[in-house]
Amino acid sequence: MNDKSIESLLHEQRKFPPSDEFISAARLQPSAAEALYAEAAADHEAFWGRLAQQEIHWETPFTDILDASDAPNYRWFTDGHLNVSYNCLDIHLAERGDKAAIIFEGEGGDQRRLTYRELTDAVSQFANALQAQGVSAGDRVVIYMPMVPETVIAMQACARIGAIHSVVFGGFSASSLRDRIIDAGAKLLITADGGFRGGHVIELKAAADEALAEGCDTIETVIVLNRADCGVSMQDGRDIWWSDAIGGHTAICEPVAVDAEHPLFLLYTSGSTGKPKGIQHSSGGYLLNAKLSSQWIFDLHDDDIFWCTADVGWVTGHSYVAYGPLAAGATILMYEGAPTVPDGGRFWSICQRHGVTIFYTAPTAIRALMKFGDDIPAQYDLSKLRLLGTVGEPINPEAWMWYHEVIGGQRCPIVDTWWQTETGAIMISPLPGTTPTKPGSCTKALPGIDVDIVDEAGEPVTSPNEGGYIVIKKPWPSMLRTIWGDNDRYIETYWEKFQNRYYVAGDSAHRDTDGYIWMMGRIDDVLNVSGHRLGTMEVESALVAHDRVVESAVVGFPHDVKGEGIFAYVVLRGERPSGDEEPALVAELRGWVGQEIGAIAKPDQIRFTENLPKTRSGKIMRRLLRTIARGDEITQDTSTLENEAILDQLRGKG
Ligand code: WTA
Repeated sequence: MNDKSIESLLHEQRKFPPSDEFISAARLQPSAAEALYAEAAADHEAFWGRLAQQEIHWETPFTDILDASDAPNYRWFTDGHLNVSYNCLDIHLAERGDKAAIIFEGEGGDQRRLTYRELTDAVSQFANALQAQGVSAGDRVVIYMPMVPETVIAMQACARIGAIHSVVFGGFSASSLRDRIIDAGAKLLITADGGFRGGHVIELKAAADEALAEGCDTIETVIVLNRADCGVSMQDGRDIWWSDAIGGHTAICEPVAVDAEHPLFLLYTSGSTGKPKGIQHSSGGYLLNAKLSSQWIFDLHDDDIFWCTADVGWVTGHSYVAYGPLAAGATILMYEGAPTVPDGGRFWSICQRHGVTIFYTAPTAIRALMKFGDDIPAQYDLSKLRLLGTVGEPINPEAWMWYHEVIGGQRCPIVDTWWQTETGAIMISPLPGTTPTKPGSCTKALPGIDVDIVDEAGEPVTSPNEGGYIVIKKPWPSMLRTIWGDNDRYIETYWEKFQNRYYVAGDSAHRDTDGYIWMMGRIDDVLNVSGHRLGTMEVESALVAHDRVVESAVVGFPHDVKGEGIFAYVVLRGERPSGDEEPALVAELRGWVGQEIGAIAKPDQIRFTENLPKTRSGKIMRRLLRTIARGDEITQDTSTLENEAILDQLRGKG
């Protein structure tokens, strides 16, 4: 975030309390919220223990709430046994068997509706199919799918038999998929022939074949859903159609009870160094926070239609599509495609046609849709909406106000929810019937989540508006357990900075005089592009893998739709290109990064330079590169630059 936006947030004084009407119907009343805060403050462990008992069906009850003997590898509710899919599905059958669990709309307009009973049956049948393919508890299953109900079915089916899923976002490339399959040591891959997005067929099976062509020896079986009828090649003995895989299996599959600490899933996310890390989540603790946060923050009532627009390839799609709202017995909406097909009114048209009441999306989507103008949403009846949410990056007050006025008709509270892949569930957010909101602030931590902002020495910052590190001071049930296969990296990344005392999120923030938290962005070399995390090093290594590139440095710059854009400085082997050669090489490198990582990682800007600016000790001067990428005046000292003459090249003027 640049200084200007911090400035504007600091001056943001508007406050929006929930309406009396909203408060009176809220599931969590202000007095109850206050009681939860008090209970958590009085006895943190007992608080989570009581909720775990109340909210989860345990096959075998736990006796130990929190085991800190291997801290910071905390264990919650261990020795308790449960099944996550049972808690999301079977548990609702008696009362809500005929209630819609999933309402689906494809990009082409096709629609489906699955009741809780139908979803339970489909999950059970697919779980039987997985078992028949030799998958059992603890095996890893990679899911590389479009946003269709079968993706949730596949995830829930893994949970039903204790297999550990790792969903890879369908927009990632073959080589990203391959890296994740290898790291996870996956036995089975679930994919589709293709999916529809942005008016095109995204050919997932072709990418999967490319991934599997090299090094993925652990994969025994590939299950392929026919979604797009796009014609794929099937490898004998390895590939099987989804419809054939479930053929002959019943819709009864006894849920396998696992220890609360049994890994439910791995989800790979970018860090500041090296390859993406497999964030490992548990079964019991994860489910508890996913369910409770869905109830507390999204105020789910039985007649709500809840639409979280995130793809299941991201953590938001795990906690607020595939698990949390189902555990809470809600009806979720799933949409397969892009928000702009056939036009910028698609989201609002879906809200109107399906009567969406709660809508949760990313600031980047809000900003993109805002650009189409107010006339488009005005064509739709959005009166059913009663609560709005955002996630993924700080929301600028201008987008917040547009969301509030144009989409929410000034009547819907907005919950700006801060959390991470690592936290498993929302950590900081308004409680919609309780917390007055301020545009751009995610307000306060949830009950039982001990968030603080500390300085370099680990001491809480005391003066209002002083920035510091966001830390979480006590363990919480849905916290990541480790990085798959690399516990040292887990400790180093999240705990070492403050001697294992606090979880370090990697974000900076400040508090205002009301104690409201304002996020200020990452403190590491992680970019937030359209709400998605990308390590600068990841993009740099992709660039360097191209045979014309010797070295590169990647930084972020403010982008009015994506939040942050990617700016790459590139040093080539041989001469810098001239004339027409330059745009051609830029296009080639962008395409290359798209192939290496995925389209979201394509640099917005590429600048060729003969050297990177380095200090005499050889450190790349990233702050200088950021200043230039932003188009700001250079104020920092450049006298330590080894080669001051390259400044003009970096600025694109030499
Ligand atoms: C950022 C997404 C400001 C933050 C759930 C965090 C936010 C990273 C917000 C995690 C928010 C997420 N306000 N920043 N409401 N929500 N972030 O792992 O930098 O994809 O560390 O999880 O997104 O991204 P991740």
